[in-house]
Amino acid sequence: MNLAKPRLTVIDTDPGIDDAIGILLALASPSFTIAGITTVAGNIGIETTTRNAGRLLAFAGREDIPVFQGASAPLSRVGPEPLNLHGEDGIGGVALPDPARLPENRHAVEWLADFLMGQPAGAVDVLALGPLTNLARLVLEKPEAARRIGRIIGMGGAIHEHGNVGPRSEFNLWADPEAAAVVVASGLPFVLIPLDVTRRVRATREFVEALSSSGKPTAAMVASLIESYFEAATNRESRPLHDLCVMLFALSPELFECEDLQLSVSVARNEQAGELTIMTEGGAMVRVAMRVDAPAVLELLTRQLTAD
Ligand code: RIB
Ligand code: CA
Repeated sequence: MNLAKPRLTVIDTDPGIDDAIGILLALASPSFTIAGITTVAGNIGIETTTRNAGRLLAFAGREDIPVFQGASAPLSRVGPEPLNLHGEDGIGGVALPDPARLPENRHAVEWLADFLMGQPAGAVDVLALGPLTNLARLVLEKPEAARRIGRIIGMGGAIHEHGNVGPRSEFNLWADPEAAAVVVASGLPFVLIPLDVTRRVRATREFVEALSSSGKPTAAMVASLIESYFEAATNRESRPLHDLCVMLFALSPELFECEDLQLSVSVARNEQAGELTIMTEGGAMVRVAMRVDAPAVLELLTRQLTAD
């Protein structure tokens, strides 16, 4: 399998256990040249998501990659309460080291805008793993820089699948629906990885055991993160590995089936907030991953983490 050529990449994230798994895959794969990590509040507060980004980089020995703290709250709503499923530390209590360096003293949006202006147009991909507040602020405040993004690949939304917050709303879009509406309507090249795909990508206990016994530190850490992500001790499969699917798509898009859909995002002030509607006209065209070869992407994860 020919993997995607190395791409200059920024990860925008609210780590979060499934964010952490995706970040460790990106750090382990030569297909990603990570220029920086920008953080956003979501799974847990901004101080913790920012600290967890630093802890993951320290674990991977990548103190060379800077962390920039971003939005602590949605554009125009009160932020969500921390999600218990990620634990009090936001990372499932897994034994990660302390950050080896402090986050930079520039706001994520300021840095991202300057970084994009300093790179050739289209050269930088943004992998969006949390609420889209930082990207929306970039579109609104620094539109010239935003237009230089090569591609946004973002985890969020639900098309035919039921939601994980409201009946049809998914957490990342529900947490800041105004931001999601801005990014979707921006016309930026956007690949959306919704619950329709991510709910198909779960790890079995045998899969976790194989990573754990591989003798590879990053594979063992991913195994520990997945272990902490099982809903119950009796469950055979983990919770969905939502954000990991963003990195897997970037590595091997041919393992996913996409449809180009005209979408609008609900900004209702009720449980419909963040819901996606397929429009016949007037919506914004978004490439949406609708199906995935789940065994193949899990095999890809194993190969990337255990290769010599
Ligand atoms: O709905 C799943 C998304 O919400 C993932 O990004 C997960 O990390 C949580 O933020
Ligand atoms: Ca996330």
